[in-house]
Amino acid sequence: MAHTEESLIDIAKEVRERAYAPYSNFKVGAAVETEDGDVYTGCNVESASYGLTVCAERVAIWKGISRGETKFSRIAVVVDTEDLTPPCGVCRQIIWEFCGDVPVILSNLHGKKETLMMGELLPRAFDSKF
Ligand code: THU
Repeated sequence: MAHTEESLIDIAKEVRERAYAPYSNFKVGAAVETEDGDVYTGCNVESASYGLTVCAERVAIWKGISRGETKFSRIAVVVDTEDLTPPCGVCRQIIWEFCGDVPVILSNLHGKKETLMMGELLPRAFDSKF
């Protein structure tokens, strides 16, 4: 892991600025790190047809997957909320699918942070072993 938690959070903060969220005004940034220390970033991208919205976490993971990455070691998620915002249910399933039981670093813009394991966020996950 080439990055500190802080630097991964900073990268997620930076990409959060590029969120396209005119409907919710809720900007999210994510940075997923590979086992080799490469980082793929994502922001949420909304649509006037609301259901087409894609979350920041999935954008980051799709970018990594599409570059041929298969081994992810952790993900940081930054939202400007006092109570730290965890990934939505859909993203939990996708993070589990592609990253497994990795640390999920949650942070806001003011230095508050908490790290949870994916196994805590998605206990008894459904996956390919079934
Ligand atoms: N959102 C994310 O990007 N990640 C999450 O895990 C929670 C929700 C986005 C989707 C939508 O653009 C906005 O936040 C409000 O739901």
